[in-house]
Amino acid sequence: MDETKIPIKAENDVVIARGTGRRMARDLGFGTADQTRLATAISELTRNVLRYAGEGVCTITEKSNDDSVTINVLVEDHGPGIEDIDKAMTDGFTTSGGLGAGLPGTKRLVHEFNIESRPGATRISIALTRPKTSEHTCT
Ligand SMILES: Nc1ncnc2c1ncn2[C@@H]1O[C@H](COP(=O)(O)OP(=O)(O)OP(=O)(O)O)[C@@H](O)[C@H]1O
Ligand SMILES: [Mg+2]
Repeated sequence: MDETKIPIKAENDVVIARGTGRRMARDLGFGTADQTRLATAISELTRNVLRYAGEGVCTITEKSNDDSVTINVLVEDHGPGIEDIDKAMTDGFTTSGGLGAGLPGTKRLVHEFNIESRPGATRISIALTRPKTSEHTCT
């Protein structure tokens, strides 16, 4: 298991986090489409951290077994929390004048997506998985 923790405090940390995710996906044999999916998802979630919570942490972890390779990303903050998760997951819902596309768009990009949120503790976990067979390493 390989784990990288990236503190998210400023705009440049979003760039570092997305680049780290992309590189890990590439090194683990994910195709360019998946690399981009992961980078975009990390970018959306860490941007939300800056915008709504001010700061947080992004932890990228490799979890593999005999059959598959998984990259898990946990984005956590101690901000105000997401008041209504169902609403936040609706296309177009925003409390900040954004597009309201970040969370629902991210969910569509990844294989696993989970939100836990209460005031002071928001944890969003996503994962991409690929089978460990050679015909799937270059898609
Ligand atoms: N980490 C967070 N803490 C608190 N609230 C959040 C957090 N992330 C998202 N939200 C809430 O969920 C809403 C929807 O988030 P989403 O990323 O989908 O859209 P947005 O950030 O408003 O706009 P966009 O991402 O399209 O620029 C946000 O407007 C905000 O109210
Ligand atoms: Mg957003």
